[in-house]
Amino acid sequence: MAQRHIWKFEASVDKMREFEVRFATKRDLPAISGFGAPIVKAMKFYNKEHMARNVYELGVRDLKDTFRHKNCIIIAATKEGKIVGFCTHYPGHGHVDWLDWILVDKNLRKAGIGRALIGFVIKDAKRRGCHKIWCDSNPNNRLAFKFFTKMGFRKIGIAKRHAYREDEIFWEKQIK
Ligand SMILES: CC(C)(COP(=O)(O)OP(=O)(O)OC[C@H]1O[C@@H](n2cnc3c(N)ncnc32)[C@H](O)[C@@H]1OP(=O)(O)O)[C@@H](O)C(=O)NCCC(=O)NCCS
Repeated sequence: MAQRHIWKFEASVDKMREFEVRFATKRDLPAISGFGAPIVKAMKFYNKEHMARNVYELGVRDLKDTFRHKNCIIIAATKEGKIVGFCTHYPGHGHVDWLDWILVDKNLRKAGIGRALIGFVIKDAKRRGCHKIWCDSNPNNRLAFKFFTKMGFRKIGIAKRHAYREDEIFWEKQIK
């Protein structure tokens, strides 16, 4: 049985900006799918096969599978009850956490939601015993590059012709 919902976190609430970051529930999944799929479809740097996979992963059916996955944690950012961002992470092998998705509403960017999501992930990963977090990004994704740099991730390097034959930047951050 997944352990993810027994963690007693205080949801982090930014009163100035009135958004909340918390663990997603099963009920959030249709809204997360409806929120995330258009954002991903607008990311023109993915090739056809990779895009198809991304869209599939953000479909409700696959999100439900992900949600059931005992190692995956989905985190939601909400504003007035509406999803405005989400991320997924996997505390994994050897106490290393993998940050997979992180998406924020286009109209609410640069307001600290991404930072709050990462902060929540790091806190959660630490509580689950992880000492390090890693993630990847497409080299043409400038937003991701600036964001992960600002969040204190170190660029490990670029893997050439990696997943879906695309180049991929790998990032790491020591968290404890
Ligand atoms: C990347 C992303 C998640 C950042 O979310 P966000 O809510 O805008 O990020 P924040 O407002 O918390 O910003 C955190 C820091 O990154 C910096 N940053 C964010 N976007 C930036 C940009 N476009 N240019 C320069 N710096 C940027 C902010 O200035 C901030 O630093 P500061 O606190 O020192 O000012 C968001 O742009 C997004 O959803 N992009 C599309 C999806 C994506 O590419 N995801 C990542 C790969 S899967």
